[in-house]
Amino acid sequence: MPPTRQLGNTDIHVTPVAMGCWPITGITSIDVNEADSLATLQAAVDAGINFFDTAYIYGYDGESERMIARALGPQRDRIVIATKCGLHWDENKTQARDARPETIQRECEESLRRLNTDRIDLYYLHAPDPNVPLAESAGAFRELLDAGKIRSVGVSNLSTTAQFEEFHGVCPITASQPHYNMLQREIEADQVPWCVEHDVSLCVYWPLMKGFLAGKLPRDHVWDPKDGRQKYPVFQGEQWDRTHDFLDKLRPLAEESGLTLPQLVIAWTIRRPGITAALCGAKRPDQIRDTAAAMTADLSPDTLSAIDQAIQERGEVASRPAVK
Ligand SMILES: NC(=O)c1ccc[n+]([C@@H]2O[C@H](COP(=O)([O-])OP(=O)(O)OC[C@H]3O[C@@H](n4cnc5c(N)ncnc54)[C@H](OP(=O)(O)O)[C@@H]3O)[C@@H](O)[C@H]2O)c1
Repeated sequence: MPPTRQLGNTDIHVTPVAMGCWPITGITSIDVNEADSLATLQAAVDAGINFFDTAYIYGYDGESERMIARALGPQRDRIVIATKCGLHWDENKTQARDARPETIQRECEESLRRLNTDRIDLYYLHAPDPNVPLAESAGAFRELLDAGKIRSVGVSNLSTTAQFEEFHGVCPITASQPHYNMLQREIEADQVPWCVEHDVSLCVYWPLMKGFLAGKLPRDHVWDPKDGRQKYPVFQGEQWDRTHDFLDKLRPLAEESGLTLPQLVIAWTIRRPGITAALCGAKRPDQIRDTAAAMTADLSPDTLSAIDQAIQERGEVASRPAVK
């Protein structure tokens, strides 16, 4: 079994590769079906993953949570489930924020029901609500923690250390969930040091930059109109070409290391200081089997420095705040 890592200072231990359970709902991913989704969840467990990342908003009506219960219910005690509240789909199928204490309490009860469980291992505020002071949202998490409905608390999409301080002053934070990958590393400036100092685990999303760093999108890729990724600037124009040039430098490094490209990328990510887990999205069993193998991959010092050089030559990708 792959080695696990401690989540914050709790007694919860997670694998450094978590399965990200957004793609299995098919909202922005194409060619998704329920049989594959359920099989992908089981394949993750079979590949040694014990950590599953979902949210109320994954699926228009909590479908991702329901699938986790269906696929993994009998294995509940072997897995760590992280879910999130404070974001929902409005009547126009647009994401809306609501992190009032009463909403957090209600959404927690609903998630417990959908997940068919008596506790959530890690419960995140999905994103701060500009209309609700963070301390007020944190108060609701504190109550859920004290009531034993959740075992630990996380925050996602916070941008300043002042926000971390405000939340942490009311309710201890165990994990933070920002986006992070080889080309989007802005959290290294302040969020990573704050989290390391306060024993907060970083569980990062988009480690494969929404699949781009998996290296399977050809330069002349023709987008399916339903594929939600094409709206991001990194999938367009000069940014698109420069990232392809970058992937061309990574490919031989992966080959020399006996790894696939996604394995090289994830192996690098989970070795970064302060990073506890990479949340790897997948919609088919072969994808999660592939990324799971990164947990036991070795990267030599020469490979690591060649990766660093390729990253420097590519330059950072401007990040657009995105919540999902
Ligand atoms: N807190 C937040 O606001 C937030 C925001 C975004 C995501 N998340 C979490 O983070 C997770 C990861 O984000 P993500 O799923 O959007 O992006 P991701 O992990 O960066 O990329 C996932 C995509 O990469 C492709 N892929 C994965 N493994 C592959 C492999 N081995 N070979 C080839 N392609 C592979 C698949 O794309 P194809 O569809 O093309 O096959 C998959 O849908 C989510 O599932 C979710 O749990 C959280």
